Amino acid sequence: MLWERDLTQEDLNKVEQKLLSEIENNIKEYEKSRGNLIPILQMIQEKLKYLPKDSIEMVAKYLEINTCEVYGVATFYNQFRFNPPGNHPIKVCLGTACHVKGADIILENFERKLEILEGETTPDREFSIDRVACVGCCALAPVTMIGDTVQSHMAPSKVEGLILRFKIEKEMQEREKAKNETAI
Ligand code: FES
Repeated sequence: MLWERDLTQEDLNKVEQKLLSEIENNIKEYEKSRGNLIPILQMIQEKLKYLPKDSIEMVAKYLEINTCEVYGVATFYNQFRFNPPGNHPIKVCLGTACHVKGADIILENFERKLEILEGETTPDREFSIDRVACVGCCALAPVTMIGDTVQSHMAPSKVEGLILRFKIEKEMQEREKAKNETAI
């Protein structure tokens, strides 16, 4: 899978380039019609998990429309994202129950600690931050999802510890990997 945790940035770029070439061929299966813009974007997002700049240009060229038009349509629908999801996608719930319990401060704290804004991904692709509407467990508000795990009763003070936990986990995995490689 594209976003495997042990892939390096270089590996990811190679995988992404390969998938982009495949996509270039897949696009040709669609009739050259503006009506196919959204299905093509959905196909790309399905494969890459986001819409890189190159893919937007590719679609515009194929459908013979302006790049701005493709961006315009893609940004209108919030199903599309323009940054790759991190290995640990962070979704901060900003629904009403979470909002009244300070979810916006939690979001700000994640942004500050990771030095990215919502909708962005850290350069190493470890973390991405998104705001979401109610995730359906208001009794546990404020709620943040990290991957599939619900972090209930979140507090701004818990943000640093959570990030640190993932970083330590990654370091331990890397050490383990290096140890196994030297043992071979
Ligand atoms: S508003 Fe956040 S879980 Fe419902």
